[in-house]
Amino acid sequence: MKFLITGGTGLIGKNIVQLLIRNNHHINILSRKEKDNSENLSFFKWNPKRQTVDYDSINDVDIVINLAGENIFGLWTSSKKERILKSRLQSLKLLKKLIKHRPNKVKQIISASAIGIFPNSQEAVYNEDSDLVGKTFLANVVKQWEKEIESFKEFRIAITTIRIGMVFSELGGIIKVLRFILNSRILFLVGNGNQKISWIHIEDLSEIFYKLSLKNYNGLIHAVNNNPTTMLDLLKKLSDNYSFCFKIFTPNIILKSLFKVFFMKDFYDDIVNSSKNVVSTEMKKISHKFKYIELNDL
Ligand SMILES: NC(=O)c1ccc[n+]([C@@H]2O[C@H](COP(=O)([O-])OP(=O)(O)OC[C@H]3O[C@@H](n4cnc5c(N)ncnc54)[C@H](OP(=O)(O)O)[C@@H]3O)[C@@H](O)[C@H]2O)c1
Repeated sequence: MKFLITGGTGLIGKNIVQLLIRNNHHINILSRKEKDNSENLSFFKWNPKRQTVDYDSINDVDIVINLAGENIFGLWTSSKKERILKSRLQSLKLLKKLIKHRPNKVKQIISASAIGIFPNSQEAVYNEDSDLVGKTFLANVVKQWEKEIESFKEFRIAITTIRIGMVFSELGGIIKVLRFILNSRILFLVGNGNQKISWIHIEDLSEIFYKLSLKNYNGLIHAVNNNPTTMLDLLKKLSDNYSFCFKIFTPNIILKSLFKVFFMKDFYDDIVNSSKNVVSTEMKKISHKFKYIELNDL
């Protein structure tokens, strides 16, 4: 099979590309940057902001995987927030233009989405049938993102929306950010630290993407390992090798006010104080056996 991947240069994309290459597939990557091709890997330029794309990128492609989007970590200025939303919508719009205007044999699009769509809660459990949508900035981004994914229906291809949980990888994402914070030897805890983190290891995630393509899976699926942890347990696990000078338990109200003062209330609600207990009931359809279930498996 031949794959076309957007965001194939990112944390998740690189891992999926390696897995596909090990399985002898050819991969085209759409990137905003110039990159060198290698065996089984060809780079094509696109620019979602300007809506330009190299149309040859879709030749002979069977499966499209969409991962492109501005990284959500960093300072949430108004321009960063605009990029977080627009980059995702513009990437999907450009993919639609590509599929519409060049004859192709694409039979499936698998697009990233996120569990950030759900409201924060320490009690509620969300599976693929839950239709609650949060009222935060990120929940609104994901809602619009998924609407754009659904619009691929016009091509009569399988549409797979994969709501990804917190991806655990030593190479990036939340683990790298927390390790950076822990290096200061000050352990910050928001409230009681019981915020739920629904997570998945990057190796499990890549295999799930691959299985969804082999099964031509159509519909929504949650990519989480069905064993959420808490922020406190995750920090304890990551701080095994540190001796701490300070442990700071910060009441929610104080932190929230501080973030508000710096115009970062949305970042507080969506990232710092995020709590989602998300599970998948659909995963059984692709019979994935998770390698990483407990924090001790890391
Ligand atoms: N990592 C997680 O924990 C997690 C959890 C839930 C959902 N997701 C979603 O899964 C997708 C992939 O995540 P990731 O962690 O691999 O992200 P990542 O490392 O930030 O990579 C995203 C890729 O998107 C492209 N990109 C970045 N900014 C862009 C912009 N402004 N306009 C267009 N393209 C842009 C880049 O590719 P080029 O530079 O080659 O163009 C980049 O390599 C993202 O959409 C993310 O929201 C991730």
